[in-house]
Amino acid sequence: MTTATNAVSSRREPELLGQTVVLIGGSAGIGLETARRARGEGADVVLTGRDPERLERAARDVDARSTAAFDATDAAALKRFFDGLADPIDHVLVTGPGPSYVPLLEMDADQVRQALGDHVVLGLEVARAAAGRMRPGGSLTFMGGTGGRKISRDLGLASAATAVLPPFTAALALELAPVRVNLIAAGFVDTPLSASYFSADGLEARREELRTTLPIRRVVGPADVAALAVALMTNTALTGATYDIDGGQQFVS
Ligand SMILES: NC(=O)c1ccc[n+]([C@@H]2O[C@H](COP(=O)([O-])OP(=O)(O)OC[C@H]3O[C@@H](n4cnc5c(N)ncnc54)[C@H](OP(=O)(O)O)[C@@H]3O)[C@@H](O)[C@H]2O)c1
Repeated sequence: MTTATNAVSSRREPELLGQTVVLIGGSAGIGLETARRARGEGADVVLTGRDPERLERAARDVDARSTAAFDATDAAALKRFFDGLADPIDHVLVTGPGPSYVPLLEMDADQVRQALGDHVVLGLEVARAAAGRMRPGGSLTFMGGTGGRKISRDLGLASAATAVLPPFTAALALELAPVRVNLIAAGFVDTPLSASYFSADGLEARREELRTTLPIRRVVGPADVAALAVALMTNTALTGATYDIDGGQQFVS
């Protein structure tokens, strides 16, 4: 890159200046890194999560405008939160709970309904609660995965739960227009959630395996996903679509 090109790119305007970004599940991992990235682009950020102390630490870290501690799977709490926001919202990223990996035959009917519907219900409740507060051209982004596309005994219902998200996202984008709706499908991302599935040694071994096998020869981190999330917020041509970010993980064994 030439000096002239550098000078041009360093003069660009922050892309989210004057906009408000809400992170449902914003005190750790992908949500927190997206808050940081959005702040870097000039946005005000509002963080939510369940653990108030972790939330306050995260809020100080990224200089958040405000925080709210509640369980996002509680639809009434979610509605109270959005109703209580003073200003219009431009973008919402929904992270929150991870999948559960239980053998199919060990699940009862309620667990099956929950596993299949959890992310859809959460996404819908956020859409319902946030829609009236969002500016046209704003965006709602959900988190899904590429890992579940491979069928494996270890994944249980997680593959089926993952598969419903792209058509759900596209259908919701039609109903919610002109607010845009997109889905990020991630592979392994190095976050506290991923770490919770491994022992310390097991986590390091998994990272090393990924460094060796992934086409990108490195582990995908939350900042990588945050960059994609902010791109989905700022590019107003994008809606109804699913964006993979897994370093090529789905194409290697
Ligand atoms: N990490 C990966 O490899 C990966 C891959 C594909 C998809 N994803 C998906 O991406 C999302 C975020 O993952 P992550 O790795 O960033 O997770 P993380 O590091 O555990 O962070 C999750 C965030 O969401 C909050 N949260 C969790 N459950 C919540 C609930 N019921 N209500 C409100 N807030 C809640 C957490 O705070 P509190 O615990 O204090 O509530 C935290 O702020 C998840 O849906 C996950 O399934 C992750």
